[in-house]
Amino acid sequence: MKHFNISSLKELPNRYRANLINSCTGYKSSNLLGTISPSGKANLAIFNSVVHIGSAPAMLGFILRPLTVRRDTYNNFKSAGAFTVNQVSQNIIKQAHHTSAKYDEGISEFKKSGLTETYLDGFEAPYVTESPIKIGCRYINEYEIKENGCLLIIGAIEHIYLPEESIAKDGWVHLDKTNAISAVGIDGYALPKIVERLSYATANEPSKSILDGA
Ligand SMILES: Cc1cc2nc3c(=O)[nH]c(=O)nc-3n(C[C@H](O)[C@H](O)[C@H](O)COP(=O)(O)O)c2cc1C
Repeated sequence: MKHFNISSLKELPNRYRANLINSCTGYKSSNLLGTISPSGKANLAIFNSVVHIGSAPAMLGFILRPLTVRRDTYNNFKSAGAFTVNQVSQNIIKQAHHTSAKYDEGISEFKKSGLTETYLDGFEAPYVTESPIKIGCRYINEYEIKENGCLLIIGAIEHIYLPEESIAKDGWVHLDKTNAISAVGIDGYALPKIVERLSYATANEPSKSILDGA
């Protein structure tokens, strides 16, 4: 088995180390963040770090790279106070990946990547029409990760749109019914398959399958 330790990790070429560290902890979520600039220009960028932070109140978070260069997503949600999180599905992988390209401030990644912006129920930030799951968030806070200058951004979930048939009776979302794509590092994309869903784990009791009805 290959073994890396703290000193051999430091000696690896930067790109190799980044690929290794980005991918070895497992499959990540894959979402497009939609924002709007003060002059009304829509912006879209792919993120593989969106996680749920809590459900009451409903919040999510994501990691933003250090503010050492212009970050349109950050500037836009700070000024508008809102952003959207749009699931990458199998049919839009190439378009979604392309949104990570650096374009000038006034250029919309929606247009450049061939995805469609849409505005729902008066929410300020643009959603992606092609995404099966769309979430509207209000920016609420940010925390600096002092060790490397990244930011953990926190958003309050104000809207969720998703196909009726993907929601189980108890609210759990059957993500493979939406062809949800998962990211491996920053250039790999996988189509995960749900293989099991289990009852709440109780001490000394084996968990039962609840996949066919919770
Ligand atoms: C698969 C993938 C995942 C990414 N995840 C993140 C992320 O979690 N955080 C981040 O700051 N950048 C991430 N990026 C890079 C951004 O997409 C990229 O910097 C983008 O240009 C940001 O756009 P903006 O300047 O319009 O905000 C990721 C790129 C790819 C290809």
